Amino acid sequence: MLKTDLLLCAPTETGLTVAASEIDRAGFRRVLGSWLSGVSIVSSMADDQPFGLTCSAICSVSVTPPLLLACINSSSATLATIVGAGAFAVSVLDTDSRAISEMFARRGHQQFADISWHRGYRTGMPVLAAALAYAECTVHHVSEAGDHTIVLGKVIDGAADHTRDPLGYWRTNYLHLPDAIELHGRPDTNASWIGEL
Ligand SMILES: Cc1cc2nc3c(=O)[nH]c(=O)nc-3n(C[C@H](O)[C@H](O)[C@H](O)COP(=O)(O)O)c2cc1C
Repeated sequence: MLKTDLLLCAPTETGLTVAASEIDRAGFRRVLGSWLSGVSIVSSMADDQPFGLTCSAICSVSVTPPLLLACINSSSATLATIVGAGAFAVSVLDTDSRAISEMFARRGHQQFADISWHRGYRTGMPVLAAALAYAECTVHHVSEAGDHTIVLGKVIDGAADHTRDPLGYWRTNYLHLPDAIELHGRPDTNASWIGEL
């Protein structure tokens, strides 16, 4: 048994457990918050204005064709611009970008005034200088899922800098991953994905 004060399941006679009922909001957050993630800024443009939000719910979906997904709260202002533009960018934040993550977790598009960014070469969508990797995507499919919307993007360009380390996020804490990477050994690779930054 996990050492936890959170009761998710009811014991049965067989010793197996079944979910007693739908998990509550706090329980859901505690379980899914235990999944270690990186932090990205998902961004788009509307009327020549950049929009973006901090987003940890991104995921690789398919290699052929190259697809990724981002799960975005359906009330997000950035979501509306992504759907309107039919394109977006994902900037994977490097380990020194905690302040940028916190800034993009607040509403409004003035955040871009205080940071360095450029328009992606293929889509024109905003790419952050604080990114250790980025993907430029066209919108492939949009699907509502509960209070969030799954945006499936076709990756048409991108790059990764293997000399920089990522920002981690776990149980509402930011993690400085270089310490952990040094501890477990750094892979000897300079292989680029699509191109170098
Ligand atoms: C570390 C971190 C990860 C987040 N991940 C997500 C996410 O995956 N999806 C989401 O919709 N919001 C996520 N948020 C919250 C949004 O960044 C926040 O609601 C933001 O204000 C939305 O901005 P917008 O409405 O201007 O688009 C996250 C916030 C933080 C701090």
